[in-house]
Amino acid sequence: MSKGIQNIAVMTSGGDAPGMNPAIRAVVRASVYYNKEIFGIYRGYEGLIEGDIERFTARKVSNIINRGGTILKTARSEEFRSVEGRKKAYENLIKNNIDALVVIGGDGSFRGMKIFAEEFDFPVVGIPATIDNDISGTDYTIGFDTAANTAMEAIDKIRDTASSHNRLFFIEVMGRDAGFLAAYSGIAGGAEDILIPEKDRGVDSLLQALKRSKRSGKTSSIVVVAEGEKSGKNVFELARYVEQNLHDYEARVVIIGHIQRGGCPSVFDRVLGSRLGVAAVEALLDGQRNVVTGFRNNNVIVYPLEEAITEQKGVSKELIRIIPILTT
Ligand code: F6P
Repeated sequence: MSKGIQNIAVMTSGGDAPGMNPAIRAVVRASVYYNKEIFGIYRGYEGLIEGDIERFTARKVSNIINRGGTILKTARSEEFRSVEGRKKAYENLIKNNIDALVVIGGDGSFRGMKIFAEEFDFPVVGIPATIDNDISGTDYTIGFDTAANTAMEAIDKIRDTASSHNRLFFIEVMGRDAGFLAAYSGIAGGAEDILIPEKDRGVDSLLQALKRSKRSGKTSSIVVVAEGEKSGKNVFELARYVEQNLHDYEARVVIIGHIQRGGCPSVFDRVLGSRLGVAAVEALLDGQRNVVTGFRNNNVIVYPLEEAITEQKGVSKELIRIIPILTT
């Protein structure tokens, strides 16, 4: 293992995701295990620019594996987009004798990390954590499983009231431009239809499908809509259009929103965070630079940062193909 790296810093950045704490814990404990110094940076790049940095011990991360959010707090930093901001960030790393940086976050955080690493020739490793699951190269990102379960539980609850009142519900789930959360929670929640940005359905095809299911005897329905799906402009417009064209169905709209980002991480996210955290430290100590840890085909992998941010990732063709079968 490389002797070059003695002091490692870890931060969380961008939208919080359940499982970030297990990942922080793993980075801290792996660093201690390999006799390295470990520093926590608060509030992502913003805290790095302001020098909000603390030396961590293994005990600092006790009793956090079960907690949602991030003990390091997080932010989306405007200042880090500027050269001046990144220069301040670099100076703070040097001031604290930090040799390498681990960033737990999503694609926006990784883009900033790549520019920074190239500008200052600084060793970085990314750990993909976002409820959107939209990072290329890894099958799953930390937080997606917990968020999908949260959305599914909300759908289950709404189904009770939908069927009691014979109503049609449009449920918007998060995911930014990707449809993973909608596809997974919609399939798991037995939705009558699922709209995702990866498949341009058009509102009229939705209308026809709902008419068919009504004729077949359904008295209530749930349509899960990804926030990035824009065929009806927005979920309220979509619901209005459908209601106007599908008589005898009273429609309601629910936006699950930030509830999806909170809560205790699932077993999957705790174990994923733990594995990717250890892998990040080991990758650095093995001399790897500008890489991301991920989970592909049931294996922990380390792959180029470039791949994580340049390639487009969306819901698989197989999943898209089975949605109409399951919602018939
Ligand atoms: O990237 C995670 C995410 O929750 C997206 O699903 C959503 O579009 C966005 O963040 C919301 O961001 P904010 O918390 O800044 O409103």
